Amino acid sequence: MRIAVLSSEAVPYSKTGGLADVTGALPKALCGIGADAVLITPCYLQTNGEHLWSVAIDDLWVNWRGGSYRARAFYSEANGSPTFLIDAPEFFHRDSIYGYTEDYERFAFFNQAALTLLKRLGKPVDIVHLNDWHCGFAAAKIAHLRFWDAFWRNTRTVFSIHNLAYQGGFSNGELWDMGFGSEFERNHFAFNGYASALKAGLSASDMLSTVSRRYGYEIQQAENGYGLDWLLRLRRERLFGITNGVDYEVWDPETDPELPAHFSVSDLSGKKECKRDLLERFSLPLDLDRPLFAIVTRLTAQKGIELIQHAAGDLLASGAYFIALGSGEKQYEDFLQRLRNAAPSQVGVFVGYNESLAHQIEAGADMFLMPSRFEPCGLNQMYSLRYGTVPIVRAVGGLDDTVRDYDRVNGTGNGFKFNAFSPERFTEKIYEAIFAYADTEAWRRIQYNGMTEDNSWESAAKKYVELYRRTLVG
Ligand code: ADP
Ligand code: GLC
Repeated sequence: MRIAVLSSEAVPYSKTGGLADVTGALPKALCGIGADAVLITPCYLQTNGEHLWSVAIDDLWVNWRGGSYRARAFYSEANGSPTFLIDAPEFFHRDSIYGYTEDYERFAFFNQAALTLLKRLGKPVDIVHLNDWHCGFAAAKIAHLRFWDAFWRNTRTVFSIHNLAYQGGFSNGELWDMGFGSEFERNHFAFNGYASALKAGLSASDMLSTVSRRYGYEIQQAENGYGLDWLLRLRRERLFGITNGVDYEVWDPETDPELPAHFSVSDLSGKKECKRDLLERFSLPLDLDRPLFAIVTRLTAQKGIELIQHAAGDLLASGAYFIALGSGEKQYEDFLQRLRNAAPSQVGVFVGYNESLAHQIEAGADMFLMPSRFEPCGLNQMYSLRYGTVPIVRAVGGLDDTVRDYDRVNGTGNGFKFNAFSPERFTEKIYEAIFAYADTEAWRRIQYNGMTEDNSWESAAKKYVELYRRTLVG
């Protein structure tokens, strides 16, 4: 089975969030179980040059806005699977990966270039696996081309929803110019008087998936559907939830090259070293017995930062440390800086993006906070489990599917979980965790339950292959 995975970001080439972790790891896992998978992703200014092995195609002529644009395709296997990176400086050489009014156009071009590349490679593809709104364009295009071009006749599309909140909307007057001239294609985009790339993906793809089972259910409800819940309900027979995996080659405390010391479930002494090192990095007093809470996150409303704002006072009153790594909305960045200024001997803050520090925090922290408003899957809670860092999460999306609330009587559970989006419930869980932390035996139990959990990509990749098979039979 030949599969092409398209994504706007993928580790190790580019990353702003979990989407990159997933689409970097999935093609590798697919190849690992015998599938013939390639990854196609843009080459940004931010893409590390050492990952670009060679120029595979120097003259990739892409039909674009009535003319022809000469792009290039680099080749690499740095993520563990064959990868083509689309080089088109006019679209992708910017100060940041996203955030421009013409993002819709940049990614429409990426889709067009990716399909041109696949055809140029000459081998028909069984499944084109599209991810989030940035790839919705290809869904509409393939659904159309299938009737006109023998190359695409047997190709089927799977569209994965990583986050329904981002929709890639633009004026529908642009569609014609971007090569979507037929009514058939335009209908897929049509959404409340404008064009939505996400809607095109949801409407035109042969199969849909979400990155956890629970999120697949949540987005069919009006409160979480962003106006598209009706379409998801309509297509629910074609909507499947597959929980993301963890790439344990990148996230494993026994081997992680970013850590000052290593550890495993049978010997946790290295974790203490990591905690000491982390406290030192943030110039905090070295009291290793005090619990250390952490967050590593995009600072957006999705992540429930308001709950952290409400709980921070109680958390610090307990004497605990709090370390935050994040970037995003200014109001949240300012809140973190204020908190640090108010309690400099308990709080450490790094505003920005820092890959190494993300690993060091996962290893050195005792508890990891994820009180999200919604969370399609969430990866940090799964990284935390492996690093013996106990997650405290809200029971939504993938957080609900992967974290089980600790039960003192039976010793079951791998973390702490609350339901209502309420500061009181969150603070209660924080205190429950602090009490459990004080009981060394109970804490070891929770850590053991988490560290021995298997969230590897292999089983998720098998589920994707099963989904691809289903898609091919119609
Ligand atoms: P989302 O994709 O919604 O941001 P996930 O939990 O799926 O949430 O994935 C977030 C990923 O991005 C994780 O790998 C996390 O470590 C990383 N990350 C988020 N913010 C930062 C940051 N400021 N610095 C480094 N890594 C970050
Ligand atoms: C999105 C979601 C996150 C998920 C990630 C990878 O960014 O916000 O919950 O883990 O995609 O699927």
